[in-house]
Amino acid sequence: MIFKAVANYFDAVISLAGKGAPARILDVGAGGGVVSLRLAKANPDAAVVGIDYALRQVRAANWLKKKEQVLNCTFQQGNAMALPFSEASFDRVVSINSIKHWPDPAQGLSEIRRVLRPRGQAFISEADRSASPEELLAFSENYRAWYIWGALMRWILRNVVFGKSYNALELKTIAGRAGFSDTVIQAVPGPFFLLVLTK
Ligand SMILES: C[S@@+](CC[C@H](N)C(=O)[O-])C[C@H]1O[C@@H](n2cnc3c(N)ncnc32)[C@H](O)[C@@H]1O
Repeated sequence: MIFKAVANYFDAVISLAGKGAPARILDVGAGGGVVSLRLAKANPDAAVVGIDYALRQVRAANWLKKKEQVLNCTFQQGNAMALPFSEASFDRVVSINSIKHWPDPAQGLSEIRRVLRPRGQAFISEADRSASPEELLAFSENYRAWYIWGALMRWILRNVVFGKSYNALELKTIAGRAGFSDTVIQAVPGPFFLLVLTK
């Protein structure tokens, strides 16, 4: 299953992003809300906001929030290109597997930098375009959906998901263009990478 394949990767990002008791956390490209809700549960004193461009995803996230009865998390529609928040309003920003979809990643990172408080941190993770065929094969063993034939799934992973993404150095360069000069590339489980950007 898909979540089994990414479980350790999600755990690593969520745990790193929660260090130091942040009070306000923003999740950009929150999708169905799984990561935002886990961040909220792991940081009960924090207020977590998940935004996503797709209204369908915001509805799904709100459904999950209700089902899991999480009170310290809200979801709203929003575009990473123009975040609907004022300057310095978050201690942390998290974005998992979303930035490869943004039309202008430097604009999105510059928006993230704007809404972070001074010395606030962003945790941006993505599928690694430079992952080796062996790493992708190992990952695809755990990444199965009953409705997609295995070989087709591997093709999609290689050519669509990973092939259209970035590698860590490419994204670090883009982060530099967005004004982040303090960037650490952090290893995470699986064929992914995490950038920790400090304002
Ligand atoms: C692959 S999903 C990842 C969802 C979630 N972060 C996760 O890891 O489970 C990518 C999400 O990014 C959202 N997205 C794409 N472009 C966006 C944009 N410009 N602004 C906000 N969200 C965007 C999509 O709607 C989608 O829900």
